[in-house]
Amino acid sequence: MIQAKVAEILESDQFLQEHHVKGWVRSFRSNRFIALNDGSTLKNLQCVIDFENTDEETINRINVGAAISVKGTLKESLGSQQRVEIEVSEIQILGDANPEEVKLTILSPKKHSMEKLREQAHLRVRTNTFGAIMRVRSKLSFAVHKYFQEKNFYHVHTPIITGSDAEGAGEMFRVSSLDMKNPPKNEDGSINYKEDFFGKETNLTVSGQLEAETFALGLGQVYTFGPTFRAENSNTSRHLAEFWMIEPEVAFCDLDQNMDLAEDFIKYVLRYVMEHSKDDLEFLAERQEKEDQLKPKAERSDMGLMEKLNFVLENNFKRVSYTEAIEILKNSKPNKKKKFNYIIEEWGADLQSEHERYLVEKHFKTPVILFDYPAKIKAFYMRLNEDGKTVRAMDILFPGIGEIVGGSQREERLDVLKEKMKELNIPEEELWWYLDTRKFGTCVHSGFGLGFERLVQFTTGMGNIRDVIPFPRTPQNAEF
Ligand code: 4AD
Ligand code: MG
Repeated sequence: MIQAKVAEILESDQFLQEHHVKGWVRSFRSNRFIALNDGSTLKNLQCVIDFENTDEETINRINVGAAISVKGTLKESLGSQQRVEIEVSEIQILGDANPEEVKLTILSPKKHSMEKLREQAHLRVRTNTFGAIMRVRSKLSFAVHKYFQEKNFYHVHTPIITGSDAEGAGEMFRVSSLDMKNPPKNEDGSINYKEDFFGKETNLTVSGQLEAETFALGLGQVYTFGPTFRAENSNTSRHLAEFWMIEPEVAFCDLDQNMDLAEDFIKYVLRYVMEHSKDDLEFLAERQEKEDQLKPKAERSDMGLMEKLNFVLENNFKRVSYTEAIEILKNSKPNKKKKFNYIIEEWGADLQSEHERYLVEKHFKTPVILFDYPAKIKAFYMRLNEDGKTVRAMDILFPGIGEIVGGSQREERLDVLKEKMKELNIPEEELWWYLDTRKFGTCVHSGFGLGFERLVQFTTGMGNIRDVIPFPRTPQNAEF
């Protein structure tokens, strides 16, 4: 008896051999044909039962959603839909699914909206679309580790609870064990965090970068890949309150080398999934094409999913300075015709996603790396250029996504860094350990952060970031 997964059986040539397989019923027709799925692949295995010799009670329990165990012989299939099938000799119902109750869920075999699927995120992984997305997500995650490990980067686990705000944006979730109804107070009425668990104010991290920097300045080249949290009230198709970020950090590496690394890394992981998730990606490409046809013409993508992935692999990302980008945007049609929600008037303006997408999708028609941004719109740790007004920052912009990577060369000069912190009222006491790295053997170093879900979104062609993470956390929503 061969114990096997559906994926293996579908590729198998061991005809006439006895097989044993377990999974969930996707459909059951003519009291004979079970479509069995066990998650190992998009495709179902056809299991044919001999209904004359199967008792009625068992047949009545072969319902969509039920877990079953099947033993039988591998045969060439007479049907045109599949190459092989299992001729069932023994079937056991492992877990029933009541059809009346199934009807009320997304397991029922009809078309459900994405919103409906989100409401049943605990079941949606049993659908073709979410099975495919989650398998691709897993392969991408593996490829991330494979890439960095092959390049001799060390994986560091940076803390989730932190006492500092890496991005200085202040959009953090507080971590506290104080009694919220009756917190200890200072004389001035403010909350006394000295009595809190850590003896100070702490939050969930927005980025592992600052800690990763300390490790890069000892281990040479490192990466983190962990959850990050942002309490920004952004209800968009590209923002999550909890998302996963990949952050490499490299000593003796400048901004140009940082861009090379990011581009090479993205292409590597995309190539990996194109090789290892072919069926799932082709299914998702078809799904996207169908979805596209329902949209007004202007909103349809001009490339299919596979075409788009190949396009990214085959083309160099266009490297453009912020200053050049502003000129392009200022002179662009939507800016002149006031079609942008935020009109670009002068150098120094922060770019909104509408501008980023214009540059990528309309102007350059290729992924773009924007660099040398105004210091004023970027974080405190980025290296100041000789012009005194721009920093060695880079953002990678992708079609349909906008910003997928944010990174920079770090300010390695102690005096310049301290000056900047003073300007932004970041207390030195809070980051004394970070400043120490600039005192003891400081060096040119760089890194970036890639939003994992935005990468999965791009790879799978999904329009909403909530559909590429198992259980999305967004404003007003933390179900499951
Ligand atoms: O540009 P960000 O804020 O950069 C940093 O956090 C740096 N400390 C990274 C570094 O240099 N090590 O975030 C990096 C990326 C963004 O480009 C985006 O892809 C993703 O993280 N991201 C989000 N993804 C989903 N939901 C959100 N709310 C996100 N905010 C950022
Ligand atoms: Mg950013």
